[in-house]
Amino acid sequence: MNDEQRLGLVKAARSAALNAYAPYSRFRVGAALLTVDGKVYTGCNVENASYPATVCAERVAICKAVSEGETRFEAIAIACDSRRPCSPCGICRQVMAEFAPDMRVIMVGEDSVIEQRVTDLLPYGFGPGYLTDNEDE
Ligand code: THU
Repeated sequence: MNDEQRLGLVKAARSAALNAYAPYSRFRVGAALLTVDGKVYTGCNVENASYPATVCAERVAICKAVSEGETRFEAIAIACDSRRPCSPCGICRQVMAEFAPDMRVIMVGEDSVIEQRVTDLLPYGFGPGYLTDNEDE
């Protein structure tokens, strides 16, 4: 990922946050996911009157991409309204790790940015490999 792609991803995440459907929390989040081929898929949080049915911006972007046949990701930018960078929830970390443990996560706040790899955000996570470990037994 070059600097131009990084900046483009941050802008796309900020812009996606404008579409957030967040009438309950009023906390708007946007995500922009970069595939290894340079395509960008965006997502925003989509809340529900039945609160647990809410889907985070990151998972919306990942599900949009996977549903289009994309499973190899290089980076995801996450932008929210708060001053400090938006850190993804545990469920989103798990979903990111399924496809791209080495993916860069760019967390964008109003006045600072933090960049980490998925494996650093979810150390010792459960992954697809556990399901096939005992296949030869
Ligand atoms: N949310 C996200 O979309 N992504 C995150 O990384 C953290 C939280 C959403 C879910 C819910 O709509 C609102 O933010 C408040 O939790």
